[in-house]
Amino acid sequence: MGRKFIVGGNWKCNGTTEEVKKIVATLNQGEVPSEDVVEVVISPPFVFLPLVKSLLRSDFHVAAQNCWVKKGGAFTGEISGEMLVNLGIPWVILGHSERRALLGESNEFVGDKVAYALGQGLKVIACVGETLEQREAGSTMDVVAAQTKAIADKINDWTNVVIAYEPVWAIGTGKVATPAQAQEVHADLRKWFQANVSAEVAESIRIMYGGSVSGANCKELAAKSDVDGFLVGGASLKPEFIDIINSAT
Ligand code: G3P
Repeated sequence: MGRKFIVGGNWKCNGTTEEVKKIVATLNQGEVPSEDVVEVVISPPFVFLPLVKSLLRSDFHVAAQNCWVKKGGAFTGEISGEMLVNLGIPWVILGHSERRALLGESNEFVGDKVAYALGQGLKVIACVGETLEQREAGSTMDVVAAQTKAIADKINDWTNVVIAYEPVWAIGTGKVATPAQAQEVHADLRKWFQANVSAEVAESIRIMYGGSVSGANCKELAAKSDVDGFLVGGASLKPEFIDIINSAT
């Protein structure tokens, strides 16, 4: 069975109540393939999750942008996986490079978060990706493999995990990876899964590309055989997000 295309909109730390309502209204009017063909996951900031969930069309799903590494308690400012489940939020993005870089989230910490979130019944978009320096040093695959291994060390069942390959140098820069660059890393990641996890997981796991995806470049990227979707930042706040969803077909 083929891998179902998945498109995520990561709104990051953007939006007011009014803007959120407008974006959701645009999404709700968009003509897109059925959810049997493309899975769409919208990830607003925590504070807007209930609003977005209540207004959003039922064929699109909602994700949090992060959650805490274990059961809640005395962790001021954190949001637990249990809370997301309690609100009916099915997805969470973990290990985004902005959190790795700005908040010091290590590979091991991200691995622990993924394991805990899966244990709560959440589906996880786990982000990996190299910096420009790492790419120029020729260590892209070492970096991405180490990030993925730290997750593999903590979980056995990959059914509810999607990997988002987001080269840091492509995020928010307008400097998108070429389709060939994205395909190369996605294919190498699949080989990594084959060698280190299983042939079944290598074949079935979905690998999204993220980093300056736009309405203009999505078609070419989507045509690559190992690109199973997109995790979109800036363009997910704009009407062109509908074009990106449609790039699957
Ligand atoms: O998670 C999505 C992201 O980091 C890519 O952001 O703005 O380059 O599409 P952007």
